Amino acid sequence: MKIKFSQDASATMLERMPVIIKASEEAACLDVADAIARLIIDKQKNNQTVVLGLATGVTPIKIYQELVRKHREEGLSFRNVVTFNLDEYYPQSKTSKLSYHYFMHYHLFDQIDIPAENINIPDGELDSDKMADYCKFYEEKIDAYGGIDIQILGIGRTGHIGFNEPGSREESLTRLVKLHPITIMDATREFIREDLVPRRAITMGIKTISKARKVYLLAWGEKKAPIIKQAIEGPVSEENPATFLQLHPNVSVLIDPDAAVELTRIKTPWVVSVVDWDIDIAKSAVIWLGQKLKKPILKLTEDDYRKNGLGDLLGFAGDSQKLNVRIFNSLQHTITGWPGGKPNSDDTHRPERANPARKRVVIFSPHPDDDVISMGGTFRKLVKQGHDVHVAYQVSGNIAVFDDDARKYAEFIKDISGALDIAAGEFSRIHDELVEAINSKGESSKDTKLMRSVKGFIRKGEASAGARFIGLKDENIHFLNLPFYETGEARKNGLGQEDIDIIKKLLTAVKPHQIFAAGDLRDPHGTHKVCFDAILMALEELKQEAWIKDCWLWMYRGAWHEWETDEIEMAIPLSPVDLMYKRKAIFKHQSQKDTPVFPGNDPREFWQRAEDRNRQTAQYFDQLGLTEYEAIEAFVRYHY
Ligand code: F6R
Repeated sequence: MKIKFSQDASATMLERMPVIIKASEEAACLDVADAIARLIIDKQKNNQTVVLGLATGVTPIKIYQELVRKHREEGLSFRNVVTFNLDEYYPQSKTSKLSYHYFMHYHLFDQIDIPAENINIPDGELDSDKMADYCKFYEEKIDAYGGIDIQILGIGRTGHIGFNEPGSREESLTRLVKLHPITIMDATREFIREDLVPRRAITMGIKTISKARKVYLLAWGEKKAPIIKQAIEGPVSEENPATFLQLHPNVSVLIDPDAAVELTRIKTPWVVSVVDWDIDIAKSAVIWLGQKLKKPILKLTEDDYRKNGLGDLLGFAGDSQKLNVRIFNSLQHTITGWPGGKPNSDDTHRPERANPARKRVVIFSPHPDDDVISMGGTFRKLVKQGHDVHVAYQVSGNIAVFDDDARKYAEFIKDISGALDIAAGEFSRIHDELVEAINSKGESSKDTKLMRSVKGFIRKGEASAGARFIGLKDENIHFLNLPFYETGEARKNGLGQEDIDIIKKLLTAVKPHQIFAAGDLRDPHGTHKVCFDAILMALEELKQEAWIKDCWLWMYRGAWHEWETDEIEMAIPLSPVDLMYKRKAIFKHQSQKDTPVFPGNDPREFWQRAEDRNRQTAQYFDQLGLTEYEAIEAFVRYHY
């Protein structure tokens, strides 16, 4: 997400650690890699050793890539480097691809000239009776090298650094710990099945980390934004172990703009600094004030503004009445029952164009159920209002189907083929192969190709049922099966040209006036962001086409979180009947009902989350003095 407001560092009085918002993850990683390289080179001059504290996970990968590049292209040598990794799962074999041993060798150690004896990673293969001595030895070894010079840290959604989960004490040292349920859930992205994630880990303690001379805490992406805010602005507490870093004399927090969105200086800058007002910031501030005081916008008084630190906003706006009316109107103008534009009407103050009255629309759904979860009501209105609507499911979603479900369908085809006496042998073979695959899956947890196809077909059938229920013709339902997703694991490949070409082909065939896409960047697996990037890249490559100039891109959210009220540019009200239709469309995705494979840390089912979010948006509008609706689906336009 773009930063809406100034990121003036003077606005940091709430921030208890030095924070730098870098332009991107890449830029931040280059800075850290440079700092490491400088230290290595400096120490080399004096024949000294550099001691690095290293992290695993997705956060530091680009630092390691840059260090490898410096080694290959600039001759940076690591012969004087000693490393200590923060943690390792327990129990965990070193050769497992899911071990942190494997991770570190794969991303860094095997590609540089560090001596093997200089590498230290907690030993996940250790007998538990040796654990206490081993942890003591790990601490002593760090001390014997004179302590850590530079410590790299990611942060978990629990606030863990290393695997110091909530409840970790300030004086904690290297030890065996139990992982938090949220951490286990996040690790499912690698292990695929929750029950395969080790329940414990060996981790350096808070004190071990705090003894490092320089600490970098790093975070990227919106899903880290809430915990980053708490770590930086919250009080020091065992509940959020990252807050102990506030006590460190030489810590730098490097984050990207997405991870910064919840910081007060970004979200509500008027609370911490003098703001250079424009109408967008004014709108955010007025809505914030209305929500804070639980007052309709048109009832906000001069006194309300002044008592809440917004006196200077009145200076910018003239007076409170004028400001209230202006913001009220701009919010009201976002509301429309015509997501494809209202035909034959003045569209000056409407979010969509009246012409052409019948639009060609492509709804991109990253997973097979995001369309109905996030915009099922709007989808149905578009179809009912006569637009030529296409839905394109970007990935197969095959990793999110339980083995039991695949087996159920395999049994079904076996039984039916038996009953009808058609090619029964072949169907039985498929069935037996699937059952064998399930039984022999064991720790590898990766599905066979056949199993992936079956799971993909299950989701395809559900998505077709959902789209048909909304009223779409079969020929307007497209399954793109983007190749980047088809690793059979939660970890995906990077986007390739073939992914982009598939999207370009569809867009060129439809030539849409409107595209709807998931701007839901807190999806824990990151698939939504990759799918969104693929659309942007396709649009970029198609920008010379005439129809592109007329094509608007709307972003929806809702599966994982919702837009803020001040961000919304198109609000589609849903009646109780609309909402019931939406619920039934979501119900078509039976493999995701009850408890899906990847539930996230929200115990509600997807249809409940969607309804709660849509009702909540309607309540915000209602509370700000606009019409009271049952629910609202919200959209933001992306200008590409
Ligand atoms: C990894 C570690 C963890 C991760 C944290 C963030 O060695 O100690 O604290 O840094 O869980 O993980 P990612 O970077 O995968 O989001």
